[in-house]
Amino acid sequence: MNSQNIYILGIESSCDDTAAAVIHNGKILSNIIANQKIHEEYGGVVPELASRAHQQNIVPVVDQALKKAGVTKDQLSAVAFTKGPGLMGSLLVGTSFAKSLAYGLNIPLIDVNHMQAHILAHFIDEVGFDKPPFPFLAMTISGGHTQIVKVNNHFDMEVIGETIDDAVGEAFDKSGKLLGLGYPAGPEIDKRAKLGNPQAFKFSKPKVDGLNFSFSGLKTAILYFIQREVKNNPNFIEENLNDICASIQYTIIGILTDKLKKASKETGIKYIAIGGGVSANSGIRQALKDGESKHGWTTYVPKFEFTTDNAAMIAIVGYLKYLDKDFTTQNVMANARLKI
Ligand code: KG4
Ligand code: ZN
Repeated sequence: MNSQNIYILGIESSCDDTAAAVIHNGKILSNIIANQKIHEEYGGVVPELASRAHQQNIVPVVDQALKKAGVTKDQLSAVAFTKGPGLMGSLLVGTSFAKSLAYGLNIPLIDVNHMQAHILAHFIDEVGFDKPPFPFLAMTISGGHTQIVKVNNHFDMEVIGETIDDAVGEAFDKSGKLLGLGYPAGPEIDKRAKLGNPQAFKFSKPKVDGLNFSFSGLKTAILYFIQREVKNNPNFIEENLNDICASIQYTIIGILTDKLKKASKETGIKYIAIGGGVSANSGIRQALKDGESKHGWTTYVPKFEFTTDNAAMIAIVGYLKYLDKDFTTQNVMANARLKI
């Protein structure tokens, strides 16, 4: 279909990572990310600081992505950028930069929905990673999102479940904060969970209708549980940290897999894909594997560098939209609340 050489630059700046990637046809040539360490001191992303850091990072990150890919600006076929959802101040930096670059080079500009990109990251050509067949279910789980999406085609997606309060990554991070762990706490909880007993402590699961999620109640339950136990034993956390982490992770994975099972049953779809930073979690990976033998699922987990926020996923959407000639104009605006 395309004997041409299509080179797309992808730019991502929706939250606290400034990222740029170059894709040649379907294959990633470079994928550069500048993480913003500054937020660790605050235990969460500070929007104003994120926006300022994006402004400092964007030129060197794009420059590095082009250099690493061995591609010059003049070879680019189009510039793709994250239009939303995300933090307005952060999105504006990537949007303005992409607009000026495309204008200066006189090439098409492509706007990308960040949530669609997390899902379409599965369509990057990568040895050892299969692309899910349509229709499939995608569960996007990260610090900012928790959704189950029915994917009928590349750009025909339907959100069939989502969180009504906190995202699942926040559930990990906020629980970790209560335990005195650093930010983000997800990876540390995962590590400790492997050494603990998941049945040691019981936390009740929220009752939410349909395929939606809720995580704010869990955070409160953990807070009260810790306050109560620490009153009896001031060393409770230190003495039981691995068991507490294992029990929290077990509860969170249970909440996710219950809804995934329900979604698969209701839609009759057994192709299940995950994406977002929390898909690095060993518990959710194991639960998906179990689903293969228990429920006949075929599961898809992208390469790690394409699961957390990155620009390769923006570039692949740019490529797919380029093939459809689905371009935007210089009037396009960032949209912090963009929906799928
Ligand atoms: O996708 P991501 O890098 O950024 C966005 O939030 O968009 O996801 C970051 C989230 C954080 O909440 C972090 O704690 C969580 O992913 N996370 C994990 C693990 N690795 C990262 N949560 C549980 N287990 C992990 N291994
Ligand atoms: Zn994301």
